[in-house]
Amino acid sequence: MTARVRTGVLISGRGSNLQSLIDACANPDFPAEIACVISNVAGAEGLARAGHMGIATHVVAHGGFKLREEFDMELDAALSRNAVSIVCLAGFMRVLSDVFVEKWRGRLINIHPSLLPGFKGLDVHGRVITSGARISGCTVHFVVPELDSGPIIAQAAVPVLADDTEESLSARTLAAEHRLYPHALKLLAEGRVKLDGERAVFTNISDAEGTLINPPLD
Ligand code: GRF
Repeated sequence: MTARVRTGVLISGRGSNLQSLIDACANPDFPAEIACVISNVAGAEGLARAGHMGIATHVVAHGGFKLREEFDMELDAALSRNAVSIVCLAGFMRVLSDVFVEKWRGRLINIHPSLLPGFKGLDVHGRVITSGARISGCTVHFVVPELDSGPIIAQAAVPVLADDTEESLSARTLAAEHRLYPHALKLLAEGRVKLDGERAVFTNISDAEGTLINPPLD
């Protein structure tokens, strides 16, 4: 078997997307492995998830640094120590400096709980409901300096139902996220998606892989 791509995951909290990546990597045929999990929050639930699986964990507390760039240098050092090639942001609640983003350009991806480019930023589900949108979803994209704006790798759609609350829409979207993120990481680890300038460029993608993944209604 060819070597699996060593992947670092950055988290700040619950880590349910991290868990979906850990579960995907449990399959020996999956092209990536989780080399380390880094949190800016000590005690983040995701750290325990990684710890249970024997995955290296690190806390880089942002409070300890005066400058964003210094914090990011420490993150970068931890990723390098773990010989990471791909970085997945999974509920990582810090804006990364341009220097960090440029260094990892094309190898740094994020999951966002909306169909980008709509509903960037925080508190997505309430805004989706208020907008009257009938379809929402999630997006995995390459990270660029502008927040939630990088080229899109994969998206999944979910319906917005008439009686949805933030909680119910969030839960439905999260179920889609958990299927989408491993799919996107697989494409990147296999070199089937690459960042080329401002565009995500795909090779060897079947029609099924390129279409939306729609989880069943709950
Ligand atoms: C997810 O909704 C993700 O899309 C967003 O932050 C949330 C993280 O949840 N970026 P979890 O920590 O993965 O459970």
